[in-house]
Amino acid sequence: MLIRSRRGWEIPEAQITPEHVFLNRRAFMTGSAGLLAAAAMPAGLRSAFAEADPSADLYPAAVNDMYEGGRPLTPEAISSTYNNFYEFGSHKRIAKAAQKLKIRPWTVTFDGLVEEERTVDVDTLLRAMPLEERIYRHRCVEAWAMTVPWTGFPLKAMVDYAKPLSDAKYVRFETFLDRKMASGQKQGWYPWPYVEGLTMAEATNELTLMVTGAYGKPLAKQFGAPLRLHTPWKYGFKSIKSIVRISFVAERPVGFWEEVQGREYGFWANVNPEVSHPRWSQATEELIGTGERVPTVIYNGYGEFVADLYKDMDGERLFM
Ligand code: MTE
Repeated sequence: MLIRSRRGWEIPEAQITPEHVFLNRRAFMTGSAGLLAAAAMPAGLRSAFAEADPSADLYPAAVNDMYEGGRPLTPEAISSTYNNFYEFGSHKRIAKAAQKLKIRPWTVTFDGLVEEERTVDVDTLLRAMPLEERIYRHRCVEAWAMTVPWTGFPLKAMVDYAKPLSDAKYVRFETFLDRKMASGQKQGWYPWPYVEGLTMAEATNELTLMVTGAYGKPLAKQFGAPLRLHTPWKYGFKSIKSIVRISFVAERPVGFWEEVQGREYGFWANVNPEVSHPRWSQATEELIGTGERVPTVIYNGYGEFVADLYKDMDGERLFM
């Protein structure tokens, strides 16, 4: 049995939310709280969420309770209507526009420094991967946060599947490019398609999750269906959505936001309350839907999993 000491993000006694405020997570997803959340959604969105998905039978996946979130879950009606997905608009209310995203057929190409390049149908991929549910905290660089039950599989399983060569140092992820479907991509001043990258050590860390579902169902389009990344110790812009290409490369990839404004957004983007964004403090974060602000924790509280990755990296801008 794996015995773990109290995790970095476990909240001190004084800050613990009274028990009655916590929602039982299963009741939340299937019971009255879930129904209330669904009822709060606009009718158009509700029916779009109900759209048949060929992977629906894979959900809900087995819960991995090593990852519990440590905070009340953010209701789906809140998290699924407050999104960043610039392909569908540069504001938070993109959920309706994102329903234009066509998520089948969908393929993922593995290329670059791999034994053999290949393009795989997403449903073949999903069925080859060990799906599980984990509750993770998500911290956006804009100082808001949410806690979501994601379903997915460790990126490490997909790295093994892709068979990279030993000279691969980084993984580069790319989102779809389709200006007709995603009107945000008509905005020529952005460097489309959205790109992000991780080192091989980050990509194969046990926390790094490829997300395929949330709240016990296939991923809603506005969350970045059918396949997105989640690196909970990093600012949310690293968690690239709707991935179509995964390349193994020798050079450090330049991410979308780093390319837009390298003075404000970097490659590492690890959460740190002590290092301000050039235009705002990162000391606290707002829990969306509650109006509550809480202190931010270094590595978003996941230091026990990842702090070692960044030892002896003097001179690197690890926290922006
Ligand atoms: N991925 C793509 N392709 N396009 C985006 O605009 N926004 C990022 C990230 N992934 C973004 C993206 C940012 S800034 C954040 S905070 C998260 O997605 C938001 O995820 P959410 O909408 O599921 O909360």
